[in-house]
Amino acid sequence: MVRLKIPATSANLGAGFDALGLALDYFNYVEMEECEGCIITSSDNTPIPTDETNLIYHTAKTVFDICGKPFYGLRIGQTNNIPMARGLGSSSACIIGGLVGANHLMGEPLTLDEMVDLSAQIEGHPDNTAPALLGGIVTAVFDGKSVHWVKQEVFTTLKFIAIIPDFELKTEKARECLPKEVSHKDAVFNLSRAALFSASLLTGKYENLRSAVCDRLHQPYRLELIPHARDIFDTAYVNGAYACYLSGAGPCLMTVVDANNRFFGGKMRFALDNMGLDTWQVKEMHIDNKGTRITDEE
Ligand code: HSE
Repeated sequence: MVRLKIPATSANLGAGFDALGLALDYFNYVEMEECEGCIITSSDNTPIPTDETNLIYHTAKTVFDICGKPFYGLRIGQTNNIPMARGLGSSSACIIGGLVGANHLMGEPLTLDEMVDLSAQIEGHPDNTAPALLGGIVTAVFDGKSVHWVKQEVFTTLKFIAIIPDFELKTEKARECLPKEVSHKDAVFNLSRAALFSASLLTGKYENLRSAVCDRLHQPYRLELIPHARDIFDTAYVNGAYACYLSGAGPCLMTVVDANNRFFGGKMRFALDNMGLDTWQVKEMHIDNKGTRITDEE
């Protein structure tokens, strides 16, 4: 039996659409062992598919098939802290759980690079799957087959305070509203800022982050799907956030805040309540540099 701890992720980081992502210290847990048939349980009453369509199970079976190992079935136990379809990498956590779990049970036939590639092929883009596996901040280029990636550990006390809406937004829907083509000017606008984000985060030039998260490829379209999003960004900046951006495909709004900004979360809670958004969550997280690991933790 193997027990895995898999981090949430925040992808895009503003301008780095489909290219940048980082891991956060908010974790799902997956227990997996070989058995005959498909036995899937949720330890926290999160509604999950308990048949072979379960994403962890399906991914693990695919990995057994790819490696040419006989597959008889699995027992899987899931603890799903990462909320689903909110822009915090819940589906990537399932893919990575299935992949790393199956690889471990088979005696580690796949290399790390092969797992990065395979997870991106399953998800379609690497900016959640790669940081969920590797931790830290990951810069990734997916050529449709292989991922060319760099993982960097980030030594910072910055807080990532997530404003998590009470509704789901499926990635497919959030991708449908994007333009098919962009101008040369907008492409330059984004690529310069994506490069600025990671360089500024890694060197502690946090005053750059507000410019770095501006983008013209996805946020202007997706923010329209999230009521109050722009007001919430304005409020976060008034309360001293370094940066605010749409996490992944949304609807989670991520704020990046100095460790010394002690009351930021409470002020955002107060503002959300005043907007009538008392069912939205405010959750403090930090960068997780380790990525997916085997654990004994309960
Ligand atoms: N880069 C992806 C997107 C992340 O923004 O659609 C969500 O999977």
